[in-house]
Amino acid sequence: MNKKDVIIALDFPDRQTTLDFLDLFPAGEKPFVKIGMELFYAEGAPMVREIRKRGHKIFLDLKLHDIPNTVKRAMSVLSGLDVDMANLHAAGGSAMMKAALEGLKRPDGSRPLLIAVTQLTSTDAKTLREELLITAPMEYTVWSYAQNAARCGLDGAVCSPQEAADVKRRCGASFLTVTPGIRFADGDIGDQKRVMTPAKAAGAGCDYIVVGRPITQAANPVEAYRRCVREFAGKDGGDV
Ligand code: C5P
Repeated sequence: MNKKDVIIALDFPDRQTTLDFLDLFPAGEKPFVKIGMELFYAEGAPMVREIRKRGHKIFLDLKLHDIPNTVKRAMSVLSGLDVDMANLHAAGGSAMMKAALEGLKRPDGSRPLLIAVTQLTSTDAKTLREELLITAPMEYTVWSYAQNAARCGLDGAVCSPQEAADVKRRCGASFLTVTPGIRFADGDIGDQKRVMTPAKAAGAGCDYIVVGRPITQAANPVEAYRRCVREFAGKDGGDV
């Protein structure tokens, strides 16, 4: 699979809205897409199969976190949907991550990429300390969870673009970084706190950028997607 790709977050409520969006693209252009909880819980496995059949690569973003045996069996089902990337919470621990890898393996030996969520960006230092009772600094837990995932054989971690270079330094250059929080230099930030442009994200060591609203809510989503791909490929500076 090509590294350095733009993944469009299909944060849509139902099948029709999703297909209307995908239909904006010409027949030969098949962006890598992310299906998250909202769309998956609304439309289920048939939606994944339909998008796959249309020729898109799929990141199934369901962030599994359960006992190892349950995660292994669930991952086996997801792998059977022929997705290209799946994820889980590194907080589930090594046994869970290793079981997930086993579950993902298909009869032909292939498997989707498995990416670890470290700390959710919605978790702040106060929540970490007072609710999760974790006294280590946030960055340390992110690095430590990512290293643990790498040791278990996972392929990469979800992190903010600001953390990508550090994660790579600690986990190895081939450990993938999948990063949301991407905005155009002239675009709206929305509810994202720490953002980066596609061009800067490429320079920061992000392998895959996950982009939602800057593409889905654009006046011309296809043009916005192409701009993102150009900037991420370094063909267009994009920064102001
Ligand atoms: O619209 P926007 O570009 O902010 O969408 C980013 C996508 O990445 C959304 O699907 C969001 O759920 C996801 N995401 C995120 N921050 C994380 C993990 C996932 O924004 N820490």
